[in-house]
Amino acid sequence: MNRTLIETSNDMRKRSHAPYSNYKVGAAVETESGEIVGGCNVESSSYGLTCCAERTALFRAIAEGHTSFKALAVSTENGGSPCGACRQVIWDLCKDIPIHICDKNGLVKTLSSSELLPEAFDDSHLL
Ligand code: THU
Repeated sequence: MNRTLIETSNDMRKRSHAPYSNYKVGAAVETESGEIVGGCNVESSSYGLTCCAERTALFRAIAEGHTSFKALAVSTENGGSPCGACRQVIWDLCKDIPIHICDKNGLVKTLSSSELLPEAFDDSHLL
């Protein structure tokens, strides 16, 4: 388990833009080359346009040129776990990696992406 990954994920909570829910979420992804890329949730006044912290981190990492990922951490005050939409995107972009779920005190538990999204739909099903 990578401490910097969890520390970055926790630090990213401070960047959260969550004026509607006030639920601050940070995330960080570890790339194949060992870089750590962070993200936070960014809310919109049109609530459905909000982007979760996990997807912000992954999309940022992709935009920075990374294509392969080793682990992801998500941090909230109370140890919330990734939403369904993020589980799908994590599976699509990372396949089966450890997901570290953290609260304000640190690591709560680690689950794999396949535990979070069993029997996932993915590109192997596309005709
Ligand atoms: N949120 C995340 O950033 N990640 C999740 O996996 C769950 C939900 C955000 C979205 C919204 O800004 C706030 O938490 C409340 O739903």
